[in-house]
Amino acid sequence: MPKVRVAQVSELPPGTLKTYEVEGEHILLANVDGRIYAMGAICSHEEWDLSEGTLEGETVICAGHGAIWNLKTGRAEFSEPLPPLPTYKVAVENDTIYLVVE
Ligand code: FES
Repeated sequence: MPKVRVAQVSELPPGTLKTYEVEGEHILLANVDGRIYAMGAICSHEEWDLSEGTLEGETVICAGHGAIWNLKTGRAEFSEPLPPLPTYKVAVENDTIYLVVE
């Protein structure tokens, strides 16, 4: 399966969130205790960048209005239904993080 290089693990210590532009898409990478998750980075409520939010377990709390995004499912808990965000498979080889493109 094709893979796209996104970042080095060393730029994303455990407990951090960062947004990267990958082939025109904004992708959020999150390091949860050494496990890397990738999800769309732009909140589908009012388009805040989720890397400005707070990582709590396997969720990200949007800094905009508090939607709670699940990094595994791309779904949000919020006061109104929000369109889900894409989630991506990640491969880590040596110190490099790749998105696996299906
Ligand atoms: S922009 Fe994310 S909750 Fe409003």
